[in-house]
Amino acid sequence: MSQDEREFVVTPWEVRGEVDYEKLIRDFGTSIITDEILERIRKHTGDLHPLLKRKIFFSHRDFDWILNRYEAGEKFFLYTGRGPSGHTHLGHLIPWIFTKYLQEEFDVELYFQMTDDEKFLHDPKLNLDEATGYAYENALDVIACGFDPKKTFIFIDTEYAKTLYKIATKFAKHVTFSTVKAAFGFDVSTNIGLIFFPSIQAAPCFFPSVLKGKNTPCLIPAAIDQSVYWRVARDVAPKLSFYKPAEIHSKFFPSLMKGGKMSASEPESAIFTVDSPELAESKIMNAFTGGQATIKEQKEKGGNPKICPIYHYYSILFEWDEKKMAEIYENCKSGCLICGDDKQRLAEKVRSFLIEHQKKREKARDMFEDFILRDPS
Ligand code: TRP
Repeated sequence: MSQDEREFVVTPWEVRGEVDYEKLIRDFGTSIITDEILERIRKHTGDLHPLLKRKIFFSHRDFDWILNRYEAGEKFFLYTGRGPSGHTHLGHLIPWIFTKYLQEEFDVELYFQMTDDEKFLHDPKLNLDEATGYAYENALDVIACGFDPKKTFIFIDTEYAKTLYKIATKFAKHVTFSTVKAAFGFDVSTNIGLIFFPSIQAAPCFFPSVLKGKNTPCLIPAAIDQSVYWRVARDVAPKLSFYKPAEIHSKFFPSLMKGGKMSASEPESAIFTVDSPELAESKIMNAFTGGQATIKEQKEKGGNPKICPIYHYYSILFEWDEKKMAEIYENCKSGCLICGDDKQRLAEKVRSFLIEHQKKREKARDMFEDFILRDPS
């Protein structure tokens, strides 16, 4: 194993190497989601979402506090977002599907941020119109997830600037360069847009509190690489007389190639929601697996589901049945399951999913204005 694979790196812009999630929890100072918390969620939802059961959402900050407030009759709101650097891939959908479950079960509002500014500032090759265009495209995928139009507010940073900028400016006054330098690894060569940007991503934590004039608890479902933003937001919140935002974190979603996470910049590593079912099928058939080199060896030694993207695809999105999931695991390990057959079965599931999602995505075009937040003119 190379040095690079053993040492892992997790920042909001880069995930590299084999991630040790327990170490991440220690490094980021977050908490593991305990069985006690799961039990408390189950009390409200009846059943637990497979993403919780399977510990794909595995870490949190103050989620127990959110439940305390909720049980005391104080509703929270959800806040999540997307950096529109390209089309949506299936990995992006996982936190959104989970967020929809939370919205439905707790009957709460969702604010959804599209950071076209962030992606433009970060990526030397992306122009701003392109990033804004992807924000619109990605919003169709968000809407297709089935959020409640009465309770869901999507906004694009460069187009909701009037409201956003005012809150971000109040936030920014409490954050020094030295703080963001340490938190994000910025240096003197970082462009000043990125240096200010953490206040743009923090501002929505306080949207309902500002817009409705009532301090409201905020819960952020997001992949754990975003937690550094919320650390800064939590430090500043009391200075603005707001609650600190709470968080619930997911793991990353595996690339179809060996190691790493799904990445919009490597088209073969991920299946995009706009891919044709045929293209998706060929990506799956060409994917890396945890299987042996030959069928004979596979039957003798068995496969390794832990490192297999095909297995992980079932686990994160395509097999919600716990019994069937356990069967796949056992059959893979014992060598009964041949990778080619396993891939074919997944490809079928992905095909039906894409056909369904693409229909909803087209319908979303007509629903767009029901979801989008606009500045008052
Ligand atoms: N920075 C995130 C990204 O690059 C986008 C984002 C904005 C976000 N606000 C968020 C993600 C809140 C999760 C929660 O994808």
